[in-house]
Amino acid sequence: MKPRVFVSRFIPDAGLSLLEKKVSLKVWEGDRPPGKEDLLREAALSDGMIVIPGDPVDREVLAAGHSLKVISSYAVGYDSIDVKAATELGILVTNTPDVLTEATADLAFGLLLAAARRIAEGDRLVRSGGWNQWGPRFMLGKDVSGATLGIVGMGRIGHAVGRRARAFGMEIVYSSRRRDETAEKELGARFLELEALLLVSDFVSLHCPLTPATMGLIGERQLRSMKADSILINTSRGAVVSEEALVRALKEKWIAGAALDVFESEPLPGGHPFMQLDNVVLCPHLGSATIRTRDRMAVLAAENLLAAIEGRIPAHVVNPEVLSRN
Ligand code: DGY
Repeated sequence: MKPRVFVSRFIPDAGLSLLEKKVSLKVWEGDRPPGKEDLLREAALSDGMIVIPGDPVDREVLAAGHSLKVISSYAVGYDSIDVKAATELGILVTNTPDVLTEATADLAFGLLLAAARRIAEGDRLVRSGGWNQWGPRFMLGKDVSGATLGIVGMGRIGHAVGRRARAFGMEIVYSSRRRDETAEKELGARFLELEALLLVSDFVSLHCPLTPATMGLIGERQLRSMKADSILINTSRGAVVSEEALVRALKEKWIAGAALDVFESEPLPGGHPFMQLDNVVLCPHLGSATIRTRDRMAVLAAENLLAAIEGRIPAHVVNPEVLSRN
């Protein structure tokens, strides 16, 4: 009998066609995302699952999967999967790094430019019919060239953002769990502790994963320490920033602006205070959303899953401890 695999959304065909050849496939077709009950039911029936960010793959769901061998994250982030529980239960967790690095860095840099040069605000003004002048002091933004970019988390995406920043003539400082010689040599990036980075940066771009250590990393104290004309960009995970503090920072002008692709709760609930503010650019979690990138993620997520089910070592394993136990 073919192994059974559950995929929690229609991922691109490039991935589904790989799976179809080898497994009995169930793709979630509901018009709302699968909830906890759905995942519990599917886990109990499946040998492997492909899930997306935000699917609540907690201990209970994992424990329901008596023949579950692998949870393949269709994302580089895996913060909604209880990796500790998966490891204890001998279930592999895999993810899709590398293939989405450039697309996500493009989006982060696009958001930086949009916030610096007030592109989204300008678009709203033109559409509303409120554009009535070209004036020497009209809608002035912030220079990018010559500005200092603080990169928080110098991983793959942090590097890729750094390369773009160099091309735009920016100075780069970074904070990360450890010093990064390549970033220092190739990007001229200077290592600083987070507190110091926030003090000197004109733009701060977040590229750290969401972990217990980074939850609420940017809160009131950090926002108050940033320059008054600085801009915060977040393409990592919403909960890395305290949204409540950020709303106050934007309203009370502790910082000049923000550009966000990720939120504590997604989709962003209607009437959220961010929606009333002109100095924040809002994007609906589009970091990896290009056709080619999503195809590559689908292939990688499918290949990771198939490798685990067939007893091979997947290319990207989050909890290798499980491998050494088998
Ligand atoms: C990821 O891969 O973690 C992204 O958030 C998806 O775009």
